[in-house]
Amino acid sequence: MKIAVRYYTKTGNTKRLAEAIGKAVGAEALPISSPITEPVDILFLGNSYYAFSIDPEVRSFVRGLDRNLVGKIVNFGSAAMLNSTYKKVKAEADKAGIPMDEREFHCKGEFKGIHKGKPDESDMRAAAEFARKIIG
Ligand SMILES: Cc1cc2nc3c(=O)[nH]c(=O)nc-3n(C[C@H](O)[C@H](O)[C@H](O)COP(=O)(O)O)c2cc1C
Repeated sequence: MKIAVRYYTKTGNTKRLAEAIGKAVGAEALPISSPITEPVDILFLGNSYYAFSIDPEVRSFVRGLDRNLVGKIVNFGSAAMLNSTYKKVKAEADKAGIPMDEREFHCKGEFKGIHKGKPDESDMRAAAEFARKIIG
């Protein structure tokens, strides 16, 4: 099974989750500036909420994915208040014609002093466990 891990981060939280997931599934965690150029069965995609939405770079990355190269997307990320970017990412994945796994990983992420230290070590462990379960 071929797996890729991509993330978008502004303050480093998603990168840390992506690295925990990458380590668990044996794939390098790379920023979304690194395009998917080879076929993968699963793309783990890390992203967050910024001002109530996902970043435009994440939107265009997902919309620009080649459906012949990506089997499915598995969403993961953190946010300070909102629960999940799933629907926002799915709206773009639908446009690209790429299915999204219904399962996702989400936890709290530190923002301006709230949720200090999150994602923390236990979040990293949970993210890794989630990813291992996804790949079976
Ligand atoms: C500019 C900015 C805007 C944010 N807006 C929201 C928001 O609208 N809702 C929310 O739940 N979290 C919001 N957050 C918190 C982030 O989603 C949270 O800190 C997340 O862990 C950031 O991930 P990152 O470090 O990978 O960028 C915001 C963070 C930043 C930096």
